[in-house]
Amino acid sequence: MKIIGGMSAQVLAARIAKELGCKASLCEFKKFPDGELYTRVVDDIKDEEVTIVQSIIADSDLVCLLQLIDAVEEASETKVVIPYLGYARQDKRFKPGEPISARAIARSISFAGIVDKIYVVNVHNKAVVEYFDVDTKELDASSLIGDCIAKKEITHPVIIGPDEGAKELAKAVAAPHGFDYDVLEKRRISGDEVRINPKEVSVEGKNIVIVDDIISTGGTIAEAASMLKARGVNEIYVACIHGLFVQNAALRILNAGVEEIIATDTIESVFSAISAAKMVAEELR
Ligand code: R5P
Repeated sequence: MKIIGGMSAQVLAARIAKELGCKASLCEFKKFPDGELYTRVVDDIKDEEVTIVQSIIADSDLVCLLQLIDAVEEASETKVVIPYLGYARQDKRFKPGEPISARAIARSISFAGIVDKIYVVNVHNKAVVEYFDVDTKELDASSLIGDCIAKKEITHPVIIGPDEGAKELAKAVAAPHGFDYDVLEKRRISGDEVRINPKEVSVEGKNIVIVDDIISTGGTIAEAASMLKARGVNEIYVACIHGLFVQNAALRILNAGVEEIIATDTIESVFSAISAAKMVAEELR
C-alpha cells in the first residue's frame, strides 16, 4: 500500500505509514505565480493500492485533495482519509439561499468515481457522512482522549462538555475509565443575567477536563473555563479532537486559567499530544 500525505496531513500520513510498515510517498506542492496550486505525486502509483491522507482546514486543502485524487486515477484502489473535515458545521441550510457546504464538499470528493472508500475522523455532525456518494466510515478518536487523560493521573477528573452538543463526546471520553461527566447548561435568570452551570455533577474542588470536538477561536472553551473557575473548581485541562486554534485561541484559553491543552494530530499543532495514526492504520490494514 502507498500512503500519500497531502499538504495538511504530512506528519499524520508519515505516522500512519510507519504503523503500516510502509513509506509515505513523496509529493511536490508548489504555487503558481497567480496563486493556483501545483500538486504532483512523485512515486509511480499505477496498479498500486493507494491511501491519500489530507485534512480540509483551508480552502486550498480541498483543491489539493481533489488534485491528489485525480493524480492517482491509475491506482488499483484509492482510499481517502480525511482526518479533519472542514465545513462540517455548515451541515444544513440555516437561511434560505445558503449552501449545505458539507454536502458540496462531500459531493466534490466523491464525484469523479475514483475513490473507493473514505474515512473521516469525528465529523461535527454524523449525518454529514451520508453526503458522500461512496462508502464512508467515521472513525472515533474520543477513546484516545480518555486514555491520554487516564495516563496523566489527574485525581478524579470530571469530564465536562461546554454545551449539549458535546454530551456524547464527554460520555465517550469518560465512560471507559469510569470518570464522571456532565455538560454545561445556560440559563437566563433575567433580561440581562445568564448563568452557566453543570447540569448534574457538582464541580467544586474537582479537577476538570473540558472536552469539545473542535476548538476554533477558543471562545467556547474560554467561557466555560472562566465559569468553572468562578464555581471553585481545582485544576482545569482542555482536550479536543480537532484543534484549529485560530487567531489567539490558545492564549484566550490559557488566560482563562487552563493548565494544559491537548489535541490530536488530525490538525497538526504544538498541542497535538495524541496521534490518530494507530486508529487509522488499524482500519486500513
Ligand atoms: C460547535 O458546535 C463546536 O462543537 C465547537 O464548540 C465550536 O466550533 C468551538 O468554536 P470556538 O472555539 O470558536 O468557540
